[in-house]
Amino acid sequence: MLTKALRGRDFITLRDFTKHEIETIIETGLALKQDYTLGRPHKLLDGKTLFMMFFNPSTRTRNSFEAGIFQLGGHGHFLQPSATRIPSLEGEDVAYKTERISDMVRSIQGMGDCIAVRILGDVVGWEYDKGLRVIQEFAKWAHIPVINMEDNIYHPCQGIADLMAMREIYGPDMRGRKVAVAWTYSDSTKKPIAPHHDMMYVSSLVGADIVYARPPEMRIDPEIEAAIKAQAEINGGSYSVTDSFEDACENADVVYAKNHVCLDLLPPVQQTPQNEEMAKLFGKYRNWIADEKRMKLAKDTAVYMHCLPCEREQEVSSAVLDGKWGSRALWTEAENRLHGQKAIMALIMQ
Ligand code: CP
Repeated sequence: MLTKALRGRDFITLRDFTKHEIETIIETGLALKQDYTLGRPHKLLDGKTLFMMFFNPSTRTRNSFEAGIFQLGGHGHFLQPSATRIPSLEGEDVAYKTERISDMVRSIQGMGDCIAVRILGDVVGWEYDKGLRVIQEFAKWAHIPVINMEDNIYHPCQGIADLMAMREIYGPDMRGRKVAVAWTYSDSTKKPIAPHHDMMYVSSLVGADIVYARPPEMRIDPEIEAAIKAQAEINGGSYSVTDSFEDACENADVVYAKNHVCLDLLPPVQQTPQNEEMAKLFGKYRNWIADEKRMKLAKDTAVYMHCLPCEREQEVSSAVLDGKWGSRALWTEAENRLHGQKAIMALIMQ
């Protein structure tokens, strides 16, 4: 466990942190979860302020950060662009119409202790790295830490909660454990690939045998895929890809199955999002659902995981979500957003 290595650091991607540093976050999160369970006071950030800038909606991220900073003795400011001076994105750069990020950051950083930002999807025209660049722009100007609350590529806070949940179920060493990470159908709004990336990345750090199942037209980011493969091998696990959902589920310990966008139908591969083509492509794979038949291929003790929100009867059946597979992990995974983010804040905001 590292004592001071994370102080003052930004938390933008998991790949900015060593395995030892991520383990420190997990162990701190579990300690804070025990404090919370026992009602032991843990006001580690007494009087400190977190600014939370949400360009997109949220249930779990907002509530876990807001409750978390309060439980640590601080206060969270919920900020929406329309309630600030930077109401809309403008052009290709990361400056804003009325007030630039640089101006906002330099104005508020003296008033508080951390800035957290969520920006992805339609807000940035599904331009793959634009949300990340906006978050990096916040970090460039801030001399207080900046936290990524999700962009199109990364959802590192979700990755921490996922890893914490797996650790509580299977322990710290996932060598010999199979983690199936699958694409599933959804006819709802487009869903980012970020949660798949970070679920697979954290699984690679603990040596799991990761199997990514997707229809052949779908893929993850090749650079992140290479990092997942490399980390899995370093840590005693493996990474493979299949177009058979059933093969991935066979004998799995974890089935993490949810929809994600088709990267080849979005910028920068396309000039604009090819929405109709994506809907047509997804329509070919309506049967890609995490249902009882598929979950029964997994081990008897297997768990179903999803970052939520999910589309019932499309991504996952209610029988799986509300049955033994979902109830073993899903709500712990959601609750761990609180404990994991309290750990991140306590470690970087000291
Ligand atoms: N998993 C997750 O980030 O949920 P919200 O979008 O509700 O915050």
